[in-house]
Amino acid sequence: MDGAILVTGGAGYIGSHIVVALAQAGHTPIVLDDFSNSALDVMPRLEALGGRPIPLIVADVRDMVALRRTFHDHPIAGVVHCAGLKSVGEGEERPLAYWDVNVGGTIALAEIMGEAGVARLVFSSSATVYGQPDVLPVPETAPLRPQSVYGRTKRTAEDFLRDLTRANPNWRIAILRYFNPAGAHPSARIGEAPTARPQNLVPLLCRIAAGEAPQLAIYGSDWPTSDGTGVRDYLHVQDLAEGHVAALGFLSENAGAVTLNLGMGRGSSVLEVVHAFERACGRRIARVFAARRPGDVARYYADPSAANRLLGWRASRDLATICADAWRWQQAGGRY
Ligand code: UFG
Repeated sequence: MDGAILVTGGAGYIGSHIVVALAQAGHTPIVLDDFSNSALDVMPRLEALGGRPIPLIVADVRDMVALRRTFHDHPIAGVVHCAGLKSVGEGEERPLAYWDVNVGGTIALAEIMGEAGVARLVFSSSATVYGQPDVLPVPETAPLRPQSVYGRTKRTAEDFLRDLTRANPNWRIAILRYFNPAGAHPSARIGEAPTARPQNLVPLLCRIAAGEAPQLAIYGSDWPTSDGTGVRDYLHVQDLAEGHVAALGFLSENAGAVTLNLGMGRGSSVLEVVHAFERACGRRIARVFAARRPGDVARYYADPSAANRLLGWRASRDLATICADAWRWQQAGGRY
């Protein structure tokens, strides 16, 4: 594809891996980030891993003046839109911020893309739009019943993008519903670096194994699953990043909107992840069983067959690799 790819939120956990995957696939990534949940120190690492200079625009994705200037100054051919607020708990306390950034930011971006005549967009959505699914594995056609403010902002942004495409078939939009991204780049140069206490399972296991957090509270031992703990579809962030590169390639050939699950297509329980992590780090993870976390569901995992078929993409790195790469990142410091 001629022209650069703008990655909003490109300094964040998922965005940074996408930037490296794009550079390695021969694209010219540009990062737009406001560093509200990321670190400037990631930039030289992205340039080292990507093997090229990476232009940076420090701006909020709702800042239409900055967006307009970015599209004016750079020959942008497509956008990967990762910038957004993503904490389920925080969203319940700050609905205005979540709606404004996640929905308002997507509208602002689409408006400026329209002005600039850039039609290719890959959007970061989440499997959380499904809520508790009736059918497993979850197909893209499953009903959308998000249980959180965060999930409802993602569903609305998705609806908006599909509406745009219905009204103007020039748009080329891939909406990607991530299941549970985890792990880190195998170089241990980039990874997930939560500033607050991690809430997600794998970063928490990293901190516990490193002695930086006490013990894991396993949220529920009585879920209707094989061992009583919650089941999720963990996919390696490198596989996820490659899915975005594949989606951009797909949009070169196909107009309209496509909505795709990105997952392994297989579920792992909390205890299975704990055991895999213990094998990866060679240490025992202290844990206790605790009450269920409000809003959690028993289990879900993706039907990724549409992404397999349309993108020629498949998540190939297993849970052992996810844990080994997450642990290597933690041992390298686990932060910027
Ligand atoms: N878990 C624990 N203890 C913890 C943290 C998590 O037992 O301290 C369990 C959870 O109950 C769940 C599993 O580990 O069964 C995974 O939990 P995460 O918080 O890592 O992930 P979730 O599936 O809850 O949430 C993730 C993303 C959200 C997204 C959601 C739905 O973090 O952004 O998937 O796709 F909305």
